[in-house]
Parts: sequence; C-alpha cells; structure tokens
Amino acid sequence: MAPNAPLPKIVRTVKDLRRHITIFRKAGETVALVPTMGALHDGHLKLVETAKKKAQRAVVSIFVNPTQFAPGEDLARYPRDEAGDRAKLAVVCTDLIWAPSPDEMYGENFATRIEVEGAAKVLEGEFRPHHFGGVATVCCKLFSQVTPDIAIFGEKDYQQLCVIQQMVRDLNLPLKIHGMATVREKDGLALSSRNAYLSEEERARAPVLNATIRKVAEMVASGSRQHAAINTATKALEKAGFGPIDYIAVADAETLGPWRHGTGRPGRVLAAAKLGTTRLIDNVPIPTTT
Ligand code: PAF
Repeated sequence: MAPNAPLPKIVRTVKDLRRHITIFRKAGETVALVPTMGALHDGHLKLVETAKKKAQRAVVSIFVNPTQFAPGEDLARYPRDEAGDRAKLAVVCTDLIWAPSPDEMYGENFATRIEVEGAAKVLEGEFRPHHFGGVATVCCKLFSQVTPDIAIFGEKDYQQLCVIQQMVRDLNLPLKIHGMATVREKDGLALSSRNAYLSEEERARAPVLNATIRKVAEMVASGSRQHAAINTATKALEKAGFGPIDYIAVADAETLGPWRHGTGRPGRVLAAAKLGTTRLIDNVPIPTTT
C-alpha cells in the first residue's frame, strides 16, 4: 500500500494504450490486467494487489460495457466514479488505467460478437441470455488491446470466471486467467458495486443470501438431498424478503453441470435473487468431505 502514490495515468485510446504497453514490453516487463466496470471496492483492490504480485505491471480497465446489459437492466444507473476509482488505484500502485469510451471500444459499424455456450448457457445464462456474449466479447477485446500475460477475475462472478476460462481455452488465447476468492463484509455479504443500490434496511437483510447458500453447501456436502436443501433455502430467502429468486443451484465447480455427492468432483452452490429492486448474486464452494 502506498497512501501518497501518484495518480495512475489514464489512457483512453487504443493507440495510446498500445504505446504504453510497448514501453513496458521493451523494458522486458510482464503485464497483468484487472478488468473492471469501475465503482471500485476493496474486492477490486485485492485483485490489483494480486496483479502487482503476479506481474511487473498492473493495468486496470474501467469500462461499463453496454453489450452485457439488456434493455431495462441497470446500465444507465450503474455507479460511475472515475476520480474516486483513480485515487483508490493509486493506493495499490496501479501502473495504468485503460478507460476507453463506448465509441473507442465499439467503433462505427462494429459487428462482431463472441458466442459462448457450455458454462454460459445455464443459471445466469437462462435469466440474462444476452449477458455472457457481451462479457466474452469485451474481455476478448480487452485481452487483445492490453495483451496481458495474466488477467485477474474475482470469484464473486463465479460463472463469468468459468465462461472466461472456457473462452481462453477454446480460442487458445495467450494469457493465464487467475480467479480470486470473493471479498466479503464481516457479516458475509459479498462486496459488489451494486450493493450501493441497497437501502439501509435491505443492506441489513442482504447477508441472509450468503448464510443461506453456505447452509445448502454444508447440507449437500454431508449427503443431504439437493432438492430438499434448495427448498429449505428458498423458504429462508423468501422469509427474509428476497424475491423473485432466480435460482439456487448446486453445480459442478468447473462445468457448472450437475454435481453429485461422493464423486470427488469440486462443487459450488450459486444463487441469484432480488432484494427490493437490487439483483444480488453469490456463490460458495461445497466443502470437501474426506
Ligand atoms: O465483472 C465485471 O466487472 C465485468 O463483467 C467485466 C469482466 C469487467 C467485463 O465487462
């Protein structure tokens, strides 16, 4: 941590970005990318701290990507605070901020979109069918713009991490993807830029989501029937005022297909539910039983 570090440089055009990356590369330096949509919290800063450990240069992209929001979702009200983000990124010694405009990212007549299947089709993919195509397309562009050796993603968006890993594998993209554990408030609520939408009263109830899926993870780890665990969880969330509950799912941690107790496969419990007008998502690993 460097509380009085200089503000990191912001670049806004691909040309300028490439000029900086070339300087890093000519000096023989490795580059890590942390893709973000801004409104940074401590979870993002942890990703940058890891980026600094894994490579000599840490580049953070800040881009609220319109193509991953459907009409009627929160694109317009998504929190934006570039000056605040820049100050926070100074403290964790970010080397460069890549903050293109939508026009710079998606030039006139932009007409290419990555189609993702497999892990992208279930859970979030069923409720937000447009979403992962937009995420994959922008991440593929970010990877080809920044040309990082490694990109760091949080497990908060666990399915997103699986989809990006799948895309990098499938397209032989020349970088490593590193996933990092979710950073949580003391009461268990996963840090998220969207927590800013919660009223005080909703904020007090929000940790029930994490507590509930942890309980599901414990139950299925000890051999309880999955649908009984999910029913109990659904009731607990409804009682706490969540609804609609899009899904509470027990899934294989790599494929996001079905998970079965006793197979030795890693598992994950994932959920998405609304609290008031805010849609919260969370996930936890299923403890391994030996
Ligand atoms: O997780 C996010 O903030 C976004 O989905 C990402 C990866 C920056 C792509 O826009």
